[in-house]
Amino acid sequence: MLVTGKEILDHAHKNKYAVGAFNVVNMEMLQAVIAAAEEENAPVFIQTTEGALSYAGMGYLSKMIRYAAKNTKVPVAFHLDHGTKFETAMQCLRNGWTSVMIDGSHYPLEENIKLTRAVVDAAHACGVSVEAELGRLGGIEDNITVDEKDAMFTNPAEARQFVDETEVDYLAIAIGTAHGKYKGVPKLDHDRLDVIKKDLNMPIVLHGASGVGEDEITKAISLGINKINIDTDLRVAYTDKVREILGNDSEIFDLRKIIGPARINVQAKVQEKMRLFGASGKA
Ligand code: G3H
Ligand code: 13P
Ligand code: ZN
Repeated sequence: MLVTGKEILDHAHKNKYAVGAFNVVNMEMLQAVIAAAEEENAPVFIQTTEGALSYAGMGYLSKMIRYAAKNTKVPVAFHLDHGTKFETAMQCLRNGWTSVMIDGSHYPLEENIKLTRAVVDAAHACGVSVEAELGRLGGIEDNITVDEKDAMFTNPAEARQFVDETEVDYLAIAIGTAHGKYKGVPKLDHDRLDVIKKDLNMPIVLHGASGVGEDEITKAISLGINKINIDTDLRVAYTDKVREILGNDSEIFDLRKIIGPARINVQAKVQEKMRLFGASGKA
Protein backbone atom coordinates (compact mmCIF):
# COMPACT_ATOMS: atom_id res chain seq x y z
CA MET A 1 0.00 0.00 0.00
CA LEU A 2 1.52 3.28 -1.11
CA VAL A 3 1.09 5.99 1.55
CA THR A 4 2.65 9.32 2.48
CA GLY A 5 5.59 9.54 4.83
CA LYS A 6 3.54 11.63 7.23
CA GLU A 7 0.89 8.91 7.63
CA ILE A 8 3.55 6.40 8.64
CA LEU A 9 5.53 8.73 10.89
CA ASP A 10 2.59 10.30 12.71
CA HIS A 11 1.69 6.78 13.88
CA ALA A 12 5.29 6.03 14.86
CA HIS A 13 5.51 9.35 16.75
CA LYS A 14 2.29 8.67 18.67
CA ASN A 15 3.24 5.07 19.45
CA LYS A 16 6.93 5.70 20.18
CA TYR A 17 8.70 3.44 17.70
CA ALA A 18 10.89 3.98 14.63
CA VAL A 19 10.40 3.02 11.00
CA GLY A 20 13.34 1.86 8.90
CA ALA A 21 14.13 3.90 5.79
CA PHE A 22 16.19 1.81 3.42
CA ASN A 23 18.11 3.02 0.37
CA VAL A 24 17.65 0.99 -2.81
CA VAL A 25 19.37 1.22 -6.18
CA ASN A 26 18.12 -1.87 -8.03
CA MET A 27 15.32 -4.42 -8.18
CA GLU A 28 16.97 -6.91 -5.84
CA MET A 29 17.42 -4.34 -3.06
CA LEU A 30 13.81 -3.24 -3.47
CA GLN A 31 12.47 -6.80 -3.40
CA ALA A 32 14.56 -7.55 -0.30
CA VAL A 33 13.10 -4.58 1.60
CA ILE A 34 9.52 -5.34 0.56
CA ALA A 35 9.86 -9.05 1.46
CA ALA A 36 11.28 -8.06 4.86
CA ALA A 37 8.43 -5.63 5.52
CA GLU A 38 5.88 -8.31 4.62
CA GLU A 39 7.57 -10.93 6.76
CA GLU A 40 7.73 -8.51 9.74
CA ASN A 41 4.35 -6.89 9.03
CA ALA A 42 6.13 -3.53 9.32
CA PRO A 43 5.60 -0.12 7.72
CA VAL A 44 8.63 0.98 5.72
CA PHE A 45 10.28 3.81 3.79
CA ILE A 46 11.90 2.92 0.47
CA GLN A 47 14.27 5.73 -0.42
CA THR A 48 16.36 6.84 -3.38
CA THR A 49 19.16 9.41 -3.46
CA GLU A 50 20.02 11.70 -6.37
CA GLY A 51 22.95 9.30 -6.91
CA ALA A 52 20.52 6.39 -7.24
CA LEU A 53 18.42 8.40 -9.69
CA SER A 54 21.36 9.11 -11.94
CA TYR A 55 22.49 5.47 -11.68
CA ALA A 56 19.18 3.74 -12.42
CA GLY A 57 17.06 6.52 -13.93
CA MET A 58 14.02 8.19 -12.47
CA GLY A 59 11.59 6.27 -14.69
CA TYR A 60 12.88 2.83 -13.73
CA LEU A 61 12.99 3.59 -10.01
CA SER A 62 9.65 5.32 -9.93
CA LYS A 63 7.77 2.62 -11.86
CA MET A 64 9.42 -0.25 -10.02
CA ILE A 65 9.02 1.14 -6.50
CA ARG A 66 5.44 2.31 -7.06
CA TYR A 67 4.58 -1.12 -8.47
CA ALA A 68 6.08 -2.81 -5.41
CA ALA A 69 4.38 -0.45 -2.98
CA LYS A 70 0.96 -0.79 -4.60
CA ASN A 71 1.20 -4.58 -4.62
CA THR A 72 1.92 -5.15 -0.96
CA LYS A 73 -0.38 -4.94 2.05
CA VAL A 74 2.16 -3.17 4.27
CA PRO A 75 2.33 0.66 4.23
CA VAL A 76 5.19 1.91 2.04
CA ALA A 77 6.34 5.54 1.75
CA PHE A 78 8.33 6.28 -1.39
CA HIS A 79 10.93 8.85 -0.36
CA LEU A 80 13.60 11.08 -1.94
CA ASP A 81 16.67 10.93 0.32
CA HIS A 82 18.97 13.99 0.52
CA GLY A 83 17.45 15.96 -2.34
CA THR A 84 19.86 18.86 -2.75
CA LYS A 85 18.03 20.79 -5.46
CA PHE A 86 14.54 22.29 -5.58
CA GLU A 87 14.30 20.88 -9.14
CA THR A 88 14.90 17.27 -8.04
CA ALA A 89 12.16 17.56 -5.43
CA MET A 90 9.76 18.91 -8.09
CA GLN A 91 10.60 16.05 -10.47
CA CYS A 92 9.85 13.60 -7.67
CA LEU A 93 6.47 15.26 -7.05
CA ARG A 94 5.64 14.74 -10.73
CA ASN A 95 6.84 11.14 -10.75
CA GLY A 96 4.96 9.65 -7.82
CA TRP A 97 7.19 9.97 -4.77
CA THR A 98 5.05 10.34 -1.61
CA SER A 99 7.74 11.93 0.55
CA VAL A 100 10.73 14.13 -0.29
CA MET A 101 13.74 15.27 1.67
CA ILE A 102 15.23 18.64 0.88
CA ASP A 103 18.67 18.81 2.43
CA GLY A 104 19.79 22.39 2.91
CA SER A 105 21.83 21.52 6.00
CA HIS A 106 25.07 22.84 4.45
CA TYR A 107 23.52 26.31 3.98
CA PRO A 108 23.24 29.06 6.60
CA LEU A 109 19.98 28.82 8.59
CA GLU A 110 18.04 31.49 6.64
CA GLU A 111 18.92 29.93 3.30
CA ASN A 112 18.03 26.43 4.52
CA ILE A 113 14.66 27.81 5.72
CA LYS A 114 13.99 29.51 2.37
CA LEU A 115 14.78 26.41 0.29
CA THR A 116 12.84 24.08 2.60
CA ARG A 117 9.82 26.42 2.72
CA ALA A 118 9.65 26.49 -1.09
CA VAL A 119 9.67 22.69 -1.28
CA VAL A 120 7.09 22.39 1.53
CA ASP A 121 4.71 24.77 -0.28
CA ALA A 122 4.87 22.77 -3.53
CA ALA A 123 4.88 19.33 -1.92
CA HIS A 124 1.99 20.01 0.45
CA ALA A 125 -0.07 21.32 -2.48
CA CYS A 126 0.43 17.84 -4.02
CA GLY A 127 -0.25 15.91 -0.79
CA VAL A 128 3.41 14.86 -0.45
CA SER A 129 5.27 14.99 2.89
CA VAL A 130 8.61 16.70 3.45
CA GLU A 131 11.73 15.96 5.51
CA ALA A 132 14.45 18.55 6.05
CA GLU A 133 17.75 18.54 7.92
CA LEU A 134 19.28 20.91 10.42
CA GLY A 135 22.82 20.49 11.71
CA ARG A 136 25.77 18.74 10.11
CA LEU A 137 26.42 15.01 10.22
CA GLY A 138 29.95 13.93 11.07
CA GLY A 139 31.52 11.50 13.49
CA ILE A 140 31.80 12.21 17.15
CA GLU A 141 35.44 11.61 18.04
CA ASP A 142 36.49 11.12 21.64
CA ASN A 143 38.41 14.39 21.65
CA ILE A 144 35.72 16.59 20.08
CA THR A 145 35.37 19.83 22.02
CA VAL A 146 32.11 21.20 23.34
CA ASP A 147 32.45 24.16 20.95
CA GLU A 148 32.92 21.88 17.94
CA LYS A 149 29.95 19.82 19.02
CA ASP A 150 27.79 22.94 19.35
CA ALA A 151 28.84 24.11 15.89
CA MET A 152 27.95 20.82 14.19
CA PHE A 153 25.03 19.39 16.10
CA THR A 154 21.47 20.66 15.81
CA ASN A 155 20.78 23.70 17.95
CA PRO A 156 17.43 23.23 19.77
CA ALA A 157 16.38 26.91 19.49
CA GLU A 158 17.19 26.94 15.77
CA ALA A 159 15.22 23.72 15.35
CA ARG A 160 12.14 25.42 16.83
CA GLN A 161 12.52 28.42 14.52
CA PHE A 162 13.19 26.15 11.52
CA VAL A 163 10.06 24.05 12.04
CA ASP A 164 7.84 27.09 12.74
CA GLU A 165 8.98 28.87 9.59
CA THR A 166 9.10 25.88 7.19
CA GLU A 167 6.20 23.73 8.46
CA VAL A 168 8.21 20.66 7.54
CA ASP A 169 6.63 17.29 8.45
CA TYR A 170 9.68 15.60 10.00
CA LEU A 171 13.13 16.83 10.88
CA ALA A 172 16.51 15.11 10.57
CA ILE A 173 18.87 16.21 13.32
CA ALA A 174 22.61 15.89 13.89
CA ILE A 175 23.43 14.24 17.23
CA GLY A 176 26.66 12.40 16.47
CA THR A 177 26.04 9.99 13.61
CA ALA A 178 27.87 9.99 10.27
CA HIS A 179 27.20 8.43 6.86
CA GLY A 180 29.15 5.34 5.85
CA LYS A 181 31.44 3.13 7.93
CA TYR A 182 32.59 4.36 11.35
CA LYS A 183 36.26 4.37 12.31
CA GLY A 184 35.54 4.67 16.04
CA VAL A 185 32.49 3.86 18.14
CA PRO A 186 29.67 6.38 17.63
CA LYS A 187 28.16 7.90 20.77
CA LEU A 188 24.98 9.90 20.39
CA ASP A 189 24.09 13.14 22.15
CA HIS A 190 20.91 11.79 23.72
CA ASP A 191 20.41 14.85 25.94
CA ARG A 192 20.23 17.07 22.89
CA LEU A 193 17.72 14.73 21.24
CA ASP A 194 15.61 14.76 24.40
CA VAL A 195 15.45 18.57 24.49
CA ILE A 196 14.64 18.87 20.77
CA LYS A 197 11.96 16.17 20.82
CA LYS A 198 10.21 17.56 23.90
CA ASP A 199 10.10 21.00 22.36
CA LEU A 200 9.11 20.06 18.79
CA ASN A 201 6.78 17.13 19.60
CA MET A 202 6.94 15.84 16.01
CA PRO A 203 8.61 12.94 14.13
CA ILE A 204 12.42 13.13 14.27
CA VAL A 205 14.81 11.41 11.83
CA LEU A 206 18.21 9.81 12.42
CA HIS A 207 20.61 9.52 9.46
CA GLY A 208 23.82 7.52 9.26
CA ALA A 209 22.48 4.76 11.49
CA SER A 210 24.48 1.85 9.99
CA GLY A 211 27.12 0.70 12.45
CA VAL A 212 25.55 2.46 15.46
CA GLY A 213 25.30 0.15 18.49
CA GLU A 214 21.96 -1.43 19.36
CA ASP A 215 21.84 0.21 22.79
CA GLU A 216 22.43 3.66 21.29
CA ILE A 217 19.63 3.06 18.78
CA THR A 218 17.19 1.75 21.39
CA LYS A 219 17.87 4.75 23.64
CA ALA A 220 17.42 7.17 20.73
CA ILE A 221 14.06 5.58 19.87
CA SER A 222 12.95 5.84 23.50
CA LEU A 223 13.77 9.57 23.31
CA GLY A 224 11.78 10.17 20.14
CA ILE A 225 13.54 9.07 16.93
CA ASN A 226 10.87 7.82 14.49
CA LYS A 227 12.64 7.31 11.14
CA ILE A 228 16.02 5.63 10.89
CA ASN A 229 18.02 5.72 7.65
CA ILE A 230 20.07 2.66 6.73
CA ASP A 231 22.16 2.39 3.59
CA THR A 232 25.71 1.15 4.32
CA ASP A 233 24.64 -1.95 6.29
CA LEU A 234 22.55 -3.09 3.30
CA ARG A 235 25.34 -2.43 0.80
CA VAL A 236 27.63 -4.53 3.01
CA ALA A 237 25.06 -7.36 3.33
CA TYR A 238 24.70 -7.45 -0.46
CA THR A 239 28.35 -7.23 -1.42
CA ASP A 240 29.58 -9.61 1.35
CA LYS A 241 27.42 -12.33 -0.18
CA VAL A 242 28.49 -11.53 -3.74
CA ARG A 243 32.15 -11.65 -2.65
CA GLU A 244 31.61 -14.97 -0.88
CA ILE A 245 29.92 -16.59 -3.89
CA LEU A 246 32.49 -15.35 -6.40
CA GLY A 247 35.31 -16.36 -4.04
CA ASN A 248 33.93 -19.89 -3.70
CA ASP A 249 33.34 -20.47 -7.40
CA SER A 250 35.54 -18.89 -10.05
CA GLU A 251 33.44 -20.43 -12.87
CA ILE A 252 30.04 -19.04 -11.83
CA PHE A 253 28.42 -16.63 -14.31
CA ASP A 254 24.66 -17.01 -13.86
CA LEU A 255 23.83 -13.62 -12.33
CA ARG A 256 20.75 -15.01 -10.61
CA LYS A 257 22.91 -17.36 -8.57
CA ILE A 258 25.03 -14.42 -7.41
CA ILE A 259 22.62 -11.60 -6.71
CA GLY A 260 19.71 -13.90 -5.73
CA PRO A 261 21.50 -14.97 -2.51
CA ALA A 262 22.62 -11.35 -2.00
CA ARG A 263 18.94 -10.37 -2.03
CA ILE A 264 18.23 -12.92 0.72
CA ASN A 265 21.11 -11.55 2.81
CA VAL A 266 19.78 -8.00 2.49
CA GLN A 267 16.28 -9.15 3.49
CA ALA A 268 17.65 -10.74 6.68
CA LYS A 269 19.51 -7.51 7.56
CA VAL A 270 16.37 -5.41 6.98
CA GLN A 271 14.28 -7.71 9.19
CA GLU A 272 16.89 -7.45 11.94
CA LYS A 273 16.66 -3.63 11.78
CA MET A 274 12.86 -3.62 11.77
CA ARG A 275 12.78 -5.72 14.95
CA LEU A 276 15.38 -3.49 16.62
CA PHE A 277 13.42 -0.35 15.67
CA GLY A 278 10.15 -1.72 17.09
CA ALA A 279 8.43 -1.52 13.70
CA SER A 280 7.63 -5.23 13.42
CA GLY A 281 3.89 -5.89 13.74
CA LYS A 282 3.02 -2.15 13.35
CA ALA A 283 1.74 -2.33 9.72
O1 G3H B 1 23.01 9.30 2.80
C1 G3H B 1 22.89 8.70 1.77
C2 G3H B 1 23.67 7.61 1.26
O2 G3H B 1 24.18 6.70 2.17
C3 G3H B 1 24.67 8.03 0.21
O3 G3H B 1 24.05 7.55 -0.90
O4 G3H B 1 25.88 7.21 -2.54
O5 G3H B 1 23.48 7.16 -3.20
O6 G3H B 1 24.53 9.34 -2.58
P1 G3H B 1 24.52 7.86 -2.40
P1 13P C 1 24.31 4.96 6.42
O1 13P C 1 24.83 4.65 5.05
O2 13P C 1 25.39 5.36 7.35
O3 13P C 1 23.43 3.89 6.92
O4 13P C 1 23.40 6.28 6.28
C1 13P C 1 22.20 6.19 5.60
C2 13P C 1 21.56 7.52 5.43
O5 13P C 1 21.61 8.38 6.28
C3 13P C 1 20.82 7.74 4.19
O6 13P C 1 20.28 9.02 4.14
ZN1 ZN D 1 21.47 10.47 5.22
